[in-house]
Amino acid sequence: MANVAILELNGNCGNTVEEIVKMEREIFPEHESLTSFFHDELRKKNSGLLYLHVDGELVGYVMYSWPSSSYATITELAVKEQWRGQGHGEALLKAAIQKCSTTKVLRIMLHVDPLRTPAVNLYKKHGFQVDTLVEGYYSSDRNAYRMYLDFDSS
Ligand SMILES: CC(C)(COP(=O)(O)OP(=O)(O)OC[C@H]1O[C@@H](n2cnc3c(N)ncnc32)[C@H](O)[C@@H]1OP(=O)(O)O)[C@@H](O)C(=O)NCCC(=O)NCCS
Repeated sequence: MANVAILELNGNCGNTVEEIVKMEREIFPEHESLTSFFHDELRKKNSGLLYLHVDGELVGYVMYSWPSSSYATITELAVKEQWRGQGHGEALLKAAIQKCSTTKVLRIMLHVDPLRTPAVNLYKKHGFQVDTLVEGYYSSDRNAYRMYLDFDSS
């Protein structure tokens, strides 16, 4: 059986960041990609990155941050094309939600292109709701849904 592991990026991750940047470049168009400021993003104190290995191969990653004490954001989530549809994206999202919940924020927010149906469905499946449509968010002709998930504050 395949060995699936979700790992947290720390200082000793060898080539992992480079591999993730390569994936990011392949999956996202330039205006939607964090490639150019990936390293800056990771250096921020209030950010984290989880990645998923199957038998040691990098298959996907999720990046999150908590810019304030009131909310966290999921900044990027991706699974390599040939590994999609096998639950890895969902496993990464669940792990990121879990991590965000430990920061004690009340809400997670994210932006996603409404045309990215698999991602929108995945977020909805995990309780995210569409807040608003932000026109021209990624580029002049590409919009984003702003979505949010509130943690139970009771
Ligand atoms: C979004 C993404 C991470 C999903 O990863 P994945 O490993 O294929 O997803 P999973 O197999 O874990 O599927 C979990 C859920 O996502 C949704 N989903 C996944 N693939 C789907 C598809 N092709 N069509 C519709 N919904 C889909 C479903 O709700 C699914 O739950 P279900 O199996 O109970 O129906 C992956 O498609 C991806 O990397 N896409 C390109 C990058 C992207 O769009 N990132 C999000 C930008 S913010």
